[in-house]
Amino acid sequence: MALKRIRPAEGKLAVLLPGMGAVATTTMAGIMLARRGLAPAVGSLTQMGRIRLGHRTSRRSLLIRDFVPLAGMEDLEFGGWDVFGDDAYEAAVHAQVLEKAHLDAVRDELANIRPMKAAFYPEYVKRLHGPHVKSAPTKSDMVEQLRADIRGFVAEKNCARAVAVWCGSTEAYLAPADVHQGVAAFEAGLRNNSPQISNSQMYAWACIKEGVPFANGSPNLSVDFPAALELAKDRQVPTAGKDFKTGQTLLKTVLAPALKARLLGLRGWYSTNILGNRDGEILDDPDSFRTKEASKLGVLDSILQADLHEGLYGSFTHTVQIDYYPPRGDRKESWDNIDLFGWLGYPMQMKINFLCRDSILAAPLVLDLILMLDLAQRSGMASLQEWLGFYFKSPMTPPHVEAEHDLLAQLANLKNALRGMMGEELTAPFDPEYYEESAA
Ligand SMILES: NC(=O)c1ccc[n+]([C@@H]2O[C@H](COP(=O)([O-])OP(=O)(O)OC[C@H]3O[C@@H](n4cnc5c(N)ncnc54)[C@H](O)[C@@H]3O)[C@@H](O)[C@H]2O)c1
Repeated sequence: MALKRIRPAEGKLAVLLPGMGAVATTTMAGIMLARRGLAPAVGSLTQMGRIRLGHRTSRRSLLIRDFVPLAGMEDLEFGGWDVFGDDAYEAAVHAQVLEKAHLDAVRDELANIRPMKAAFYPEYVKRLHGPHVKSAPTKSDMVEQLRADIRGFVAEKNCARAVAVWCGSTEAYLAPADVHQGVAAFEAGLRNNSPQISNSQMYAWACIKEGVPFANGSPNLSVDFPAALELAKDRQVPTAGKDFKTGQTLLKTVLAPALKARLLGLRGWYSTNILGNRDGEILDDPDSFRTKEASKLGVLDSILQADLHEGLYGSFTHTVQIDYYPPRGDRKESWDNIDLFGWLGYPMQMKINFLCRDSILAAPLVLDLILMLDLAQRSGMASLQEWLGFYFKSPMTPPHVEAEHDLLAQLANLKNALRGMMGEELTAPFDPEYYEESAA
C-alpha cells in the first residue's frame, strides 16, 4: 500500500532555471529534441532507467517512468533568469555545447525563452558582469520581485505547478552564519541587506515561499541551511542539493568505494582538470574556486572513513585543481593519479584520463531532478530529499547524519525511495528466501 496518495501529474509543469548558461540551455534544447524524437535522452534515469520489483527471482523490471507517475517531457514549460538578456537560442550558441544542426531543429522554441532580469549582487560572482539585472532597495524587496516573476510566469504559461533548479554560477564561499539559523533571522537579514545572503539564497527563498521545489546544482550555500530547511518544512516544499555530480567526482565515488571494499590502502589522489567554458572562467576566481574545492574534496574522507581504517586511509594526500583553459570550451578533460597500496603494503598506481563534456553530463541530471522533485511534491514529501543525493557531489543530509557518497549505494537508496513511495517491497541485498525459492 502506498504511504500517501500521490497526486496525479495533471497540467503543465513550469521549469524555472536561475542561470541560463551552458547547462540550462543544453538541458532545454535536449528535452525539446528528445520530446520530438530527434535525439535520445541518454543519461537520464527517469527516461531510460529501470527498477526491479518484488523478489530477486521475480524478474519484474519496469521502466522507472512506467512505475512512478512522473510528469511527461511534453508537459514542461521553460523559463528562467540571467544577467544576460540573450534568449535561450543565443545563449546556447554562445555556450558552444550543441551542434548547429541540433540547435536549428529547435531554434524557434528556444528563441521564445527569454530570461527574466536577474537578482544579482556582483560581489558573489566577481568574474561575471551582465546588464540584465533588477534593482531593489533591500534584499527583501528583491525576493518579492522574484516571487512576482514566478507567479507571473506560472500564470502566463498556464502551468499547474512549478519546479526550480539552480543552474547559475558558482558563488564566493560563504559559511553558514547567524542569519542562516532560522526563518526570522533570515528575513531580518533580507531587510537589512545582510552580506551573508547571496544571490542564490534569494532565489531559493523566493521559490520556497511560492511553494516551488528547489534543487541546487552548484556548490553554493543556497538552500542547505537551517532557515531554508525550516521554511521548506513549513511550506511543505521539497529541496535538494548540492553540486551536480557529473565527471571526475562521479568516477571518484565509484572507485573509492571499490578500493575500500577490497581494503586497498591510499597514499594519495591527485585530481586536475582543464575547462574553458564560462563556468571555468568563474572558477578561476579563488573565492568561487574555494566553494567548488570544498565540495570536491569532501567525498574521499567521507567514503574512506579514516577514523575507522587508520592503517589504510589515515594519511593520504588529496589535491583537486581546476585550470581555466579557453581552447577546450565545455569539453573538460580531467586527470587522476591514484597512489594506492595492497598486500604487505606494496605500492600500485592508477591513472584516469576522462575526456568528457561538462554540460552533456549535467543535462540529464537536471531533467531527472525536475521530474523527481515534482514527484516528491505531489507525494507530500517536504524539505530536504536525501534520496536525491545520487545526483550531487555534496548531498544534503539532516543534521548529524553522515552523507552517503558511494554512487551505487545512492542509486540503491533512490530506487528504494521510489519503491517505498509506491508501496512496493524494499529490496535487501541478501535475501535468504531466494535460496529457498531456488531450491524448491
Ligand atoms: N556542467 C557540469 O558538469 C557541472 C557540474 C557541477 C556543477 N555545475 C554547476 O552548474 C552551474 C552552471 O554551470 P554552467 O556550465 O551552465 O555555467 P555557465 O556560466 O554557462 O552558466 C551560468 C549562468 O548563470 C548566470 N548567473 C549567474 N548568477 C546569476 C544570478 N544571480 N541570476 C541569474 N543568472 C545568474 C550566468 O550569467 C550564466 O549565464 C555552475 O554553478 C556550475 O559550477 C556544473
